[in-house]
Amino acid sequence: DWKLHLFPELDSTNEMAKKLIREGQAAEGTVIISRQQSRGKGRRGRSWQSPLGGLWFSIILRPELALSEVVLLSLVFAVAISQALDSFQFFDPQMIKWPNDVYINGKKVAGILLELSGELEQADYLVVGIGINVNMDRASLGRGLAKTATSLWEESGTYYQMGEVLLRVLQSIEEYYYEFLKNGFEDIRKEYKSRCFHLGKMIRLDTPRGSVEGLNLNIDEQGNLIIDSGDSIECLNTGDVALLA
Ligand code: BTN
Repeated sequence: DWKLHLFPELDSTNEMAKKLIREGQAAEGTVIISRQQSRGKGRRGRSWQSPLGGLWFSIILRPELALSEVVLLSLVFAVAISQALDSFQFFDPQMIKWPNDVYINGKKVAGILLELSGELEQADYLVVGIGINVNMDRASLGRGLAKTATSLWEESGTYYQMGEVLLRVLQSIEEYYYEFLKNGFEDIRKEYKSRCFHLGKMIRLDTPRGSVEGLNLNIDEQGNLIIDSGDSIECLNTGDVALLA
């Protein structure tokens, strides 16, 4: 059961979710939605453009999982979001960039930011922040992003009902979440790999410790990216993938 909270504007829905958790007001299934965000946050400390026309929300979960499994959830949710967007039937189904970016026609349309929040005396909460570029035009994505980002509207020429996109995504997330809790990662990993557009291709991974180039051999059971660099097989758990031409 989802409990939806809609705000006209927040700094970041993830921050609001963490505030509710700190105040002890966060039931599992709480969803914080904001029509726009003034300080939207992306992965790896980046900011996230969050104008009107996008779907910006955070889900509060309390999975009783080890950290290694929580990490897999970010891949699971990427599959769930692509599956939900597929159901609108406009798009190429192979559209995940590791670890959890959703792409359409070679451009990013959605991203996920997982944050763990745990006070010492209470169980850990997981905040799943999801941003989907829905009805924005390229110009409102910001100049620097026009080449790498897109929206559902830009790719299909159709406006979407935000509520409908939200409900389909939430429903898909629920399905994949329970599937993962029940049966583990293996089947979902297969789907992940079939949607991952750089698997089997030459890529560069930019990590905080430098870059690795090579053939992307696999996404392993722990969600790591496996790259054959020629000299060695590298197993990496963070970074940004770039497809090499
Ligand atoms: C990324 O790809 O870098 C992750 C982007 C996540 C953006 C969403 S929008 C809703 C939630 N609130 C935030 O501040 N960030 C996430």
